[in-house]
Amino acid sequence: MGKYIIAGNWKMNKLPSETYDFVKEVAAKNASASCEVVCCTPYVCLSEAVRAAKGTNVKIGAENLHFEDKGAFTGEVSADMLKDLGVEYVIIGHSERRQYFAETDETVNLKTKKALEKGLIPIVCVGESLDEREAGITMDLIAIQVKKAFAGISAADAAKVVVAYEPIWAIGTGKTATADQAEEVCAGIRAILAGLYDDATAKAVTIQYGGSMNAANAAELLAKENIDGGLIGGASLKADDFAVIVAAAK
Ligand code: PGA
Repeated sequence: MGKYIIAGNWKMNKLPSETYDFVKEVAAKNASASCEVVCCTPYVCLSEAVRAAKGTNVKIGAENLHFEDKGAFTGEVSADMLKDLGVEYVIIGHSERRQYFAETDETVNLKTKKALEKGLIPIVCVGESLDEREAGITMDLIAIQVKKAFAGISAADAAKVVVAYEPIWAIGTGKTATADQAEEVCAGIRAILAGLYDDATAKAVTIQYGGSMNAANAAELLAKENIDGGLIGGASLKADDFAVIVAAAK
């Protein structure tokens, strides 16, 4: 389906002074990867990450951005700033940002549009809580998140977006969705995109699974038809584990 992309999400881990060597290690271990390999790092690590990734097949992403171009937004970082550093990807709407930093479907949409306008590839996160899954409303909720995220985005731009399906109950818990559960929702996301756009656009979109994906379970998840990669938290902090996941993405 979409291009295979394995992206690490470092979250608030690793120091700027550790970044260069770690990205070099990731690059060395994944030099013959058959998928796109991305490290999404804290803002303060980005310039070292970009420096280390230069001349390798590793791409660098940020974990957030602001949707305005510039101005009086103390503490925020713009798309132009990320581009200026050489950043290529940006995670948008991670559940931790929705939960702790008041990210909404509306700000996710504004940020996704800004990233596309500026030539960054957005990794848009969607996912349900355990309560929502148990209430049987997973697909309804995902449909709302996807439709709002893509509102006002053309088919040509939509095809460039990466969607990460991350069930909140599986993030950092060691509790992975089964491959069938993950495939069911990822296939559902593709069907929603086909409805919003067309089959060709839906097929072009990379749909990742994220949530306790690790060296042991990656192959089974990535073998599923509609899972085109992973957004990896904890396991992306260990270069060996991350390389096993990258090798499983064929
Ligand atoms: P995890 O995090 O792999 O540590 O569960 C995934 C994510 O939040 O992107």
